Amino acid sequence: MSEATSEVPFETDSGATSGATSGAMPQEAIAFPQDRTCPYHPPTAYEPLRGARPLSRVTLFDGRSVWVVTGHAEARALLSDGRLSTDRTNAAFPTPTARFKGLRNRRTALLGVDDPEHNAQRRMLIPSFSLKRTAALRPRIRETVDRLIDSMVARGPEAELVSAFALPVPSMVICALLGVPYEDHEFFEGQSRRLLRGPGPADVEDARRRLDSYLEALIRRKRADPGDGLLDELIATHLETGGTDVEELVALAVILLVAGHETTANMISLGTFTLLRHPERLAELRADPSLMSEAVEELMRFLSIADGMLRVATAEIEVGGVTIHPDDGVVFATSVINRDDTVFKEPDALDWHRPTRHHLAFGFGIHQCLGQNLARAEMEIALGALFERLPRLRLAADPDRIPFKPGDTIQGMVELPVAW
Ligand code: HEM
Repeated sequence: MSEATSEVPFETDSGATSGATSGAMPQEAIAFPQDRTCPYHPPTAYEPLRGARPLSRVTLFDGRSVWVVTGHAEARALLSDGRLSTDRTNAAFPTPTARFKGLRNRRTALLGVDDPEHNAQRRMLIPSFSLKRTAALRPRIRETVDRLIDSMVARGPEAELVSAFALPVPSMVICALLGVPYEDHEFFEGQSRRLLRGPGPADVEDARRRLDSYLEALIRRKRADPGDGLLDELIATHLETGGTDVEELVALAVILLVAGHETTANMISLGTFTLLRHPERLAELRADPSLMSEAVEELMRFLSIADGMLRVATAEIEVGGVTIHPDDGVVFATSVINRDDTVFKEPDALDWHRPTRHHLAFGFGIHQCLGQNLARAEMEIALGALFERLPRLRLAADPDRIPFKPGDTIQGMVELPVAW
């Protein structure tokens, strides 16, 4: 059962009591977030939200009632609206799960701050994530991917794909990019997992504290003995010149390290599973590998793994026939938004022949994913090489019994047994 269904007295915030209306509001507020019944479809429990587009009410695990955005046009408008804040220290910021409370007490760079602070942080990083810089990383990503496939083949003909491939690819790439020693990967992968999925707030807070200490020590070592990663670059150009401080640099490194591997790993494992479950699509891709970049874009839309972006209103906003009031919580059901049939024809089909680039799976507006060029490169290379080098790749377990991650705001596979 997801935490969203816990029994806590129901409270409403201003939007629910204000008499705000939406044309086709569902009868009962639905709990959010919820488990998916199929790893590549939105939770069936969200079905009424599709009929109630563009905004309705949902109930969070703590009983709080918030707005859920499900219309594509309204989501774009709201994600670009400066009256919605992402400041997690705001007491009215929505808490989607109990463990999320553990993140509230620490500084979160980029995703946790509004402009102008956000803009100053983002400007420090933009050059390193440009299309050109990312394209230059492709040969190195391909080398990493090939090495991992070589070692799977050497130990084959079966593997657990999440630990053997999906997680190490982005983890190695982000380590190399930042200049973080890959020997420490078990430590920070473990802490990132606790940060994103720890059982409770204390666990999450502890994980964040450990990550902070690790990165503080790494920054100290790098100041004494500089290397050639992004962290070294930021130390030289922003820390030593007084443009930032150690606390901010640690917060930036934490978000890059965490956002940079868990999400991409989930897309690689879930993308592989989804393609193996759509053999006609996979056959098409194998026959014409040049379709891979469209396929990745469509998988991003179809899977919508970051399913629940969060904001709090700081002023009154009229949108989609409703009034959002100051301090109202707003969540974005990305999986439902990306299946808005006014934008995507036959949205429940996996089909890369229709325009699919307008999906919001990387977010939208000022917080749109900073690492999207890198993530696309990793997914294209990882999925392309996997199906090219292992043409007989198949699931090695009953697909209905392969565990996927429980209801949360990030989706993915726990394990993926494969054979070739
Ligand atoms: C397929 C993999 C990925 C997915 C699905 C994904 C998804 C997202 C989404 C939806 C947001 C916006 C969240 C919001 O507005 O609340 C976001 C922001 C962000 N992502 Fe990604 N991401 C991925 C990969 C990456 C990678 C590889 C990196 C870095 C190396 C990264 C770094 C970031 C950062 C730093 C932000 C915050 C940007 C800001 O606030 O300005 N992401 N991502």
